[in-house]
Amino acid sequence: MRNIVILISGGGSNMAAMVQTAVKEQWQKKYNARIAAVISNKAEAKGLIFAREHGIATEVLNHKAFASREEFDTALANTIDKYDSPSIPALVVLAGFMRILTPGFVQRYTDRLVNIHPSLLPAFAGLHTHQRAIDAGCKFAGATVHLVTAELDHGPILEQAIVPILPLDTADTLAQRVLTQEHIIYPRAIASLLCKMSKQD
Ligand code: GAR
Repeated sequence: MRNIVILISGGGSNMAAMVQTAVKEQWQKKYNARIAAVISNKAEAKGLIFAREHGIATEVLNHKAFASREEFDTALANTIDKYDSPSIPALVVLAGFMRILTPGFVQRYTDRLVNIHPSLLPAFAGLHTHQRAIDAGCKFAGATVHLVTAELDHGPILEQAIVPILPLDTADTLAQRVLTQEHIIYPRAIASLLCKMSKQD
């Protein structure tokens, strides 16, 4: 079985979209894959409730309880790897996981660590992407699914979606329009990776 572990920090709407797509598209039957766990660095992350209601294992690992970024990432990797012990899960999916990851962590999951970022990378890496796109006078914004490499919000692009920026848009209205597209492209990108993996079997 290919285990997928999803990391969240908040609402978890991308995670929820992925869980729903996995059921609808029968990832288990098609790709021998399942969403094995949802891990949050925040106990109050709303997405945890959705995951529990859908019978998915959840874990909370509060980054504030660790003395350094390295210590947190080591504990995080140990928690993730429980879901494919003695090896590591097939995919680790960052879905609104608002932590900068250490190079050691990124390297551990090379080619199986995926992120979604709410901009058309390589434009607007980092935070406040929607306000920055509006302030720059962009006519279009979007989201990018990419493999994670050591540099923040970089790495090979797997999928992108584009939306218009409308004259009266605020960061919130634009974020909502982008998020709707994220829910389409993220499950699609993960399904495509799983399809490739199952062809290599
Ligand atoms: C999404 O817009 C995602 O692209 C963004 O956080 C939001 C999470 O929403 N991620 C980042 O900004 C990562 N740098 P969700 O919790 O409802 O999926």
